[in-house]
Amino acid sequence: MDGTQMDGRDWNIFLLPYEQAVEELKVKFKALRVELKSREEYSPIEFVTGRVKRISSIMEKSKLLNVPSDQLETGIEDIAGIRIMCQFEEDIQRLSQLIRIREDMSVVYEKDYINNHKESGYRSYHIIVEYPVQTSLGMKKVLAEIQIRTLAMNFWATIEHSLNYKYREKLPEEISQRLRRASEAAYRLDREMSSIREEIVESQMQFEDKSNLVSTVLGDIQKLYFFRRVREAAQFQLRFNELWEKEDVWELKKLSDEIGEALFRTKGADQP
Ligand code: GTP
Ligand code: MG
Repeated sequence: MDGTQMDGRDWNIFLLPYEQAVEELKVKFKALRVELKSREEYSPIEFVTGRVKRISSIMEKSKLLNVPSDQLETGIEDIAGIRIMCQFEEDIQRLSQLIRIREDMSVVYEKDYINNHKESGYRSYHIIVEYPVQTSLGMKKVLAEIQIRTLAMNFWATIEHSLNYKYREKLPEEISQRLRRASEAAYRLDREMSSIREEIVESQMQFEDKSNLVSTVLGDIQKLYFFRRVREAAQFQLRFNELWEKEDVWELKKLSDEIGEALFRTKGADQP
């Protein structure tokens, strides 16, 4: 025995499909983030992490849950674990829906620790999926736990986990109480962020509008110079400078239309 054996089985071999599942799932959710960012300019995924449960933790959990060593595959659902962080609480439902309709994994069940937070104050949305990995022996389905949470939920869970680790699961009552209060504060933070989200999105869109407008106006003024309509171009430039100072997007829009019409006349009449 070299310490990696379990009832005649080799841990390293046992863990291989789980390692493969974690690597593949990380790649897939990162790709989903990239895809949604390009397609919709917004991704419900902020970042993705993943891990395979350590052998010692698997052994501890199987002892705790009375799982025989030949039933670890079904008895322990989080040997492969993926964690997906979102900016906003709304993103969690969106992402869950995207997971449910995927054809490369199937949802076994879901645990909503957001609407029903744990006694500790823990909040997250868990989806247990069955994921097929292709091995040299053929296809093997493994269970994986996908934890979906906001950045605030992740902040809380990370700190709470490290405190629990330090105090070996016997947190002093005073600290547990403060953690529960911190969890409520994180919840309020998520709510606050969601409520200003609409305004953030709107102001981002306005910013896009404004920068598009500015490049159109400046480009059109350049074209007027090109057609040697120097006086007109200079006048438009002055008016632009003034509106730019005042940050008057509405007047800028009107100016843009006016320059556009002037250019149209140029193209209609003066062009060779
Ligand atoms: P374990 O909690 O790992 O024994 O699994 P379980 O079968 O009870 O499932 P559960 O959904 O309760 O928890 C799964 C995972 O969620 C854990 O491994 C943790 O990563 C996370 N989790 C659950 N409860 C807490 C908590 O109170 N604090 C923190 N930080 N994480 C938690
Ligand atoms: Mg638990």
